[in-house]
Amino acid sequence: MSGLPAARRTVLKGAALAGAAGLGAAACSTDSKLGHAKTPTPTAPVELGSPDEVPVGGAKLYREQRVVVSCPAKGRYKAFSAQCTHAGCVLDKVEGNEGNCPCHGSRFDVTTGEALHGPATVPLPSVPVKVEGGRLVAGPDA
Ligand code: FES
Repeated sequence: MSGLPAARRTVLKGAALAGAAGLGAAACSTDSKLGHAKTPTPTAPVELGSPDEVPVGGAKLYREQRVVVSCPAKGRYKAFSAQCTHAGCVLDKVEGNEGNCPCHGSRFDVTTGEALHGPATVPLPSVPVKVEGGRLVAGPDA
């Protein structure tokens, strides 16, 4: 019956290992008020109104529908997503045939979708478009 404190060393060793764990990763939020959306193009056909609103040789931005439509020649239309390929903001205006992203200044050729000025480098995705019953319709199956 000596009464020696033999267990004391073992307890101190365990405490040194406890600090190594517990670093958590913060999730990155993509939620924003800038018009971000889960899909960059309409998932169902959207009616855009009269085709006459798109000037021949020019383009019109449909910001709410996230589509930009250009008219290279009378009766011919091309449409692209209006959601910037950099971080997902919706273009805010079209000047000439250049679409402007208000978030970081990217510019796109709205007749081809090509990124003209960064930080975006990926072109705007094209969207099917047609005239149906005297109205412009863009989106899948259009
Ligand atoms: S989201 Fe358009 S330039 Fe960054």
